[in-house]
Amino acid sequence: MELQLGDVQTTALIPLAVKASETLRSAPRIRDDKAVEIIKHLNIDTKQYDKFMSHEGVIARTIMLDRQLKGIIKKHPDTVIVNIGAGFDNRFSRVDNGKLLWFDLDLPDAIAARRKAFKERERVTMIAGNALEKAWCDVVNEKLGERESKPVFIAEGLFMYLTLEQIKTLLENLKECFPKGGILIAEQNNKMMVKNEKYHDTVKSTKAHFVSGTDSAQEIADLTDGIRLIEEHSFNEEMKKYSIRAKLFALLLPNMNDRWATFEWG
Ligand SMILES: C[S@@+](CC[C@H](N)C(=O)[O-])C[C@H]1O[C@@H](n2cnc3c(N)ncnc32)[C@H](O)[C@@H]1O
Repeated sequence: MELQLGDVQTTALIPLAVKASETLRSAPRIRDDKAVEIIKHLNIDTKQYDKFMSHEGVIARTIMLDRQLKGIIKKHPDTVIVNIGAGFDNRFSRVDNGKLLWFDLDLPDAIAARRKAFKERERVTMIAGNALEKAWCDVVNEKLGERESKPVFIAEGLFMYLTLEQIKTLLENLKECFPKGGILIAEQNNKMMVKNEKYHDTVKSTKAHFVSGTDSAQEIADLTDGIRLIEEHSFNEEMKKYSIRAKLFALLLPNMNDRWATFEWG
């Protein structure tokens, strides 16, 4: 499979490579057979995208966000979920309950690559569009129908490639497009990572740049009125369970790791 991806879009190869190699381990902590299949078809060296810290971070966030979503889906089986900046993510397969509606949104070249790997699936819609524009909202709203529960938006590995001004635009669009309310689960990196991106073990192998970071998710909530911060967790909480190196990292540099937070409006 040949890929033609822009600089930020290429970063989707990092979680893809990690999830594929983890799945092939003797005791995988997460399984993603689709990632294994895609990596097999790609003619690229994935070693540069699968280094220790990125590997452990992606596995931690996958476990934590799978758990978080499964909790929401258990309470609201007809949930509508929009994966913003989906890349090659295959979380739908792990959390599907036979009822939910799922949308994978990414930039047009990323979705073109995704379409080569993923067939159309019932209740899953791929949307080629810029998250910072509002056209994609119509596709979601058309299918929302009578579903009562608040739509859930995931932004995993996205905010660090957006400026705070762009994140504000996204939040304003979400509020405007889904005025009855919604839930946003978003990953952020630390401000220090923006200055130190050349030391990031895998992103340094891409041409993408970190353009924003936060010390607290409250900085995201404060960008726009009506967005409430519900909870925030460091990847360290999960990562430190698996290796001494990760435990030491959490102990010595507790604020360095990425975090995810839940926000609500409406
Ligand atoms: C690090 S990857 C994460 C992919 C996926 N969320 C995962 O965890 O496997 C970042 C993704 O965000 C997408 N992205 C960046 N800017 C975007 C935008 N303005 N609109 C939609 N997607 C965007 C990229 O194309 C890329 O697929």
